[in-house]
Amino acid sequence: PEGPPRAAFDATIARRDRIEPRDWMPDDYRGTLVRQIAQHAHSEIIGMQPEGAWIGRAPSLRRKAILLAKVQDEAGHGLYLYSACETLGVSRAELTDLLLAGRQKYSSIFNYPAPSYADVGTIGWLVDGAAICNQVPLCRTSYGPYGRAMIRICKEESFHQRQGYELLMTMMRGTAAQRAMVQESVDRFWWPVLMMFGPPDAKSPNSERSMAWGIKRNSNDELRRRFVDMTVPQAEALGVTLPDPDLRWNEERGHYDFGEPDWEEFAAVIRGDGPCNAQRLAHRRAAHEDGAWVREAATAFADRTSVGEGA
Ligand code: 3HC
Repeated sequence: PEGPPRAAFDATIARRDRIEPRDWMPDDYRGTLVRQIAQHAHSEIIGMQPEGAWIGRAPSLRRKAILLAKVQDEAGHGLYLYSACETLGVSRAELTDLLLAGRQKYSSIFNYPAPSYADVGTIGWLVDGAAICNQVPLCRTSYGPYGRAMIRICKEESFHQRQGYELLMTMMRGTAAQRAMVQESVDRFWWPVLMMFGPPDAKSPNSERSMAWGIKRNSNDELRRRFVDMTVPQAEALGVTLPDPDLRWNEERGHYDFGEPDWEEFAAVIRGDGPCNAQRLAHRRAAHEDGAWVREAATAFADRTSVGEGA
C-alpha cells in the first residue's frame, strides 16, 4: 500500500537500518530474500558432501577432528539460515522440497568434485575465503534475521578458512608429490571459486534491486575483485601459482587485473549440467528420505508430550 507502511519501509532502508519479521515489506522484497536465504542455506547443507566424504579418510586424528568440526559447523550454518528464512513465512520442509524438486539452487561451487585430499585444504582456503568476502557485507544486510545469522557464521567461517590454508601450508612443506597435489587442486578450483560471486554485474538481473533494498551491500564484481586482491598474496606465500595468465597487479588501479571466468560453464552448472549436480541432489534426497523416521518420531513425541501437558 502507499502511505505509512511503505513510507516506513522506505525510510528504514534509506537510513540503512534493519527490517524485522513483523515489519511491513513489499512482496518482492520478501520474495527475493526467501530466494537468496534459501539458496544460501541449501549451499551450506549441500556443501557438507564434498568435505564429509573425506572425514573417514583424513590422514590423522587431528585432521579428522578439524574436518568433523568444520562440516558440523556447515550444518549449523544451514540451520541458522533456514531459521532466518522461516521468519519470512516459509518452512524448511517446503524449502527442502523446492531444492529436491530442482526449483531452488545452491552455490555452483558444490557441483565440482573433490577427488584429492588437497581439495579439503583448497575448499577451506578458497571456497570459504570467497564465502567470507561475500558474507561479511551480508552482516549489514537490511533484513534483521539474515544479518544476525551472518555475524556468527562469519566468525566460524574464519576458522574454516584458516584451517584450510594451514593444511595446504603443511603439504607445501612436504614432499614434491604433496606440493603437486596442492597445485593440481588449486588449478581445478580457482575459476569455479571466482564464479561463486555470481555473473558480471552487467549480467546480474537481481543486483540492482537487491542493492536498492540494502540486501546486497556490494556488487558481484566488487566482491570478486576484493577476493582476488586478498588471495593472490596468500597464494604467493603458499608457493602456488594461480591458473590465470592475465593475472597481474595494476598499480594505477590499485587492484589485480584478472581474466574472465567461463560464463558458459557457469550457466551450464547453474542450469543443472555441472559435473556433480545429479549426484549432489541424489545424495540430499536419499539423506532426506533416510531421515524421515527421525522427523516422524520427533513429531509423534512432540504431539504426545503436548497432549500430556494439555490433559
Ligand atoms: N551459484 C548458484 N547460482 C548462482 C550463483 C552461484 N554461485 N551466483 C548467481 N547465481 C544465480 C542467482 O541465484 C540468480 O538466479 P535466480 O534469480 O534464479 O536465483 C542468477 O544466478 C543471477 O545472479 P544474480 O547476481 O542476479 O543473483 P543474486 O543477486 O542473488 O546474487 C549471489 C548471487 C551473489 C550468490 C547472492 O545470491 C548471494 O550473495 N547469496 C548469498 C551468499 C551465498 O549463497 N553464498 C554461498 C557460498 S557457499 C557457502 O557459504 C558455504 C561455505 O560455508 C562453504
